[in-house]
Amino acid sequence: MFDKVLQDIYTESKLQPKIGEIANYIPELANVNPDKFGIYLTSISGEEFGIGDVHERFSIQSVSKALSVALAYSLLGEKIWERVGVEPSGNPFNSLVQLEYEKGIPRNPFINAGALVIADMLITELKNPKEDFLGFIRNCSGIADINFDYKVAQSEKDTGFRNAALANFLKSFGNINNDVDEVLDFYFHQCSIAMSCSELTKTFFFFANQGLTSSGELILNQSQVKRMNALMQTCGFYDESGEFTYRVGLPGKSGVGGGIVALLPKQFIVSTWSPRLNSNGNSELGMYALEQLTTKTGMSIF
Ligand code: DON
Repeated sequence: MFDKVLQDIYTESKLQPKIGEIANYIPELANVNPDKFGIYLTSISGEEFGIGDVHERFSIQSVSKALSVALAYSLLGEKIWERVGVEPSGNPFNSLVQLEYEKGIPRNPFINAGALVIADMLITELKNPKEDFLGFIRNCSGIADINFDYKVAQSEKDTGFRNAALANFLKSFGNINNDVDEVLDFYFHQCSIAMSCSELTKTFFFFANQGLTSSGELILNQSQVKRMNALMQTCGFYDESGEFTYRVGLPGKSGVGGGIVALLPKQFIVSTWSPRLNSNGNSELGMYALEQLTTKTGMSIF
């Protein structure tokens, strides 16, 4: 069934008007062909379907935040929620305003401020933070050569003044324990990780499989996975999380590299890549394709 559905979605998506702009506030991301497009689905029973540019790696950017939160949650448990909330922010991913009147506690771990706090937790907990985080992702996916894109990380370091402001602001509230530059360095590297649509579905397998990777390793317990998926549903697309829920009806996470991962617990994980972004920083065509997927199959969490 998925074969035919994905084929139809691909054909229809290719006919859509080219709306949206490639992210260029990180200069290195602007070098990507904006018309790349792929959709890949891995089912929990082990079937795989893909069409388009599904094996080409791209910068996963904020998609990595779901993975950093999962690792911090597995290491620290419920304690992580003392320093970061679980509410949608209703603001852009890189917004500063809320942080001041909410006294340095980011609304959720997926906005940049929240992800910086999670990065700080990981730096404290891990012996070799960047290498260990990469190791975690390689372990979840079973893919040994997943790596940082050092050019992208450097490009964001050179231009990431807003994230630097957020990290310093968090530090002024006492919600960053490590050196600000070390936190930013970790965060820029985690965002730079390069993966393909196919690889993303394998990495996110455990979110749809009650916490177990495809090789049977337990990453999170059932309650933690439920909570992570709830967070992706309510906060995974920033100030467009309501719209994504309304149109697609799946928990997921987006990134400004144009990637989206979404999943239906106990059924499948799906990933799209199209670098043209809407004004909320989410992939325009990716959202369209996922809306078509849940509409055509009738498979969503609602
Ligand atoms: O911090 C940033 O601005 C980027 N490294 C990540 C932002 C992002 O991917 C937002 N998602 N759609």
